[in-house]
Amino acid sequence: MARRIIIAGNWKMHKTPAETLRLLNGLKVRAVNISNVEMVVCPTFVSLTIAAEALKDSRIVLGAQNMFWETEGAYTGEISAPMLKDAGCTYVILGHSERRQYFGETDETVNKRMHRALAEGLKPIMCIGETLQEREDNRMFEVLERQVTGGLAGISAGQMADVVLAYEPVWAIGTGKTATPEQADEAHAYIRGLIAKAYGDTVASAIRIQYGGSVKPGNAAELLSKDNIDGALVGGASLDAESFIAIIKAAE
Ligand code: 13P
Repeated sequence: MARRIIIAGNWKMHKTPAETLRLLNGLKVRAVNISNVEMVVCPTFVSLTIAAEALKDSRIVLGAQNMFWETEGAYTGEISAPMLKDAGCTYVILGHSERRQYFGETDETVNKRMHRALAEGLKPIMCIGETLQEREDNRMFEVLERQVTGGLAGISAGQMADVVLAYEPVWAIGTGKTATPEQADEAHAYIRGLIAKAYGDTVASAIRIQYGGSVKPGNAAELLSKDNIDGALVGGASLDAESFIAIIKAAE
C-alpha cells in the first residue's frame, strides 16, 4: 500500500523569529513544484504564529515541538494543544528523545500528551528509539515495544489514522552516525509489527513511520527506498533551505 511520504524538519532550539521568516522564504520558493510529499516544519514556539502566516500560501504545514497535556491553567512556562491549534499547527512532535533525556519525559507523560493532542485535533509525531547502550545490550526490541505500548496506551484504532511514528535511534541523533537503511528498516518493520498486533493489519499498513537521526541529502534516498520507511524527521539538515529541499526531492 502506498503511504504518502512525510518529511518534517525539527528545528529544535534554533532560529529567532526573524531567522524563521528568512528560512521559510527560502523553503517556499524551492517547494512550489513539490506536491507528492507532505512537508512539515517545526520551529520554536515563539515563531509559530509568524510561521503560520508566512506559510498560508504554500503546501508546507506547521508543527510544534512539544506541548503540555492540560488545556489551560497554572502551569508556568507550558503551552497547550488549543494554543498550538490556534497558532496554526497541524502536527506536534511528542516524546522526542531530547525531551526524555533532558526534561524527564516518560512513556506515561508522552501518552498523556498523545491523548490531548488527538482530542484537540492535532496530529502527533510520536518519537521512539533506543540508546547506544540499549542497542549494545540487545535490548532494542524490548525498548521499542515498551515505548510503543506505553506511548499509545488507550489510543483507538480510529485515532491511529492521525498518528505518525518517528523511529530515532538516540545514537544517530546529531552524531553524524546514521543507521544503515537495513538497520532502520529492521526497526521499522518491528514497530509496524507491534502496531499490527495491537490494531490489526489495516492500521499497521497505513501508519507512517519516519526515520530520524543524521538524515542528510546524501543518505535520504537510500533510507526512503526501504519498504517500511515512510518519511524522515530531520534535525540539523532542516535548518538550511537547500539541504532540506534536497531531502524532500530525494523523497519525491
Ligand atoms: P539530526 O538530524 O540533527 O541528527 O536530528 C534528528 C532529530 O532528532 C530529529 O528530531
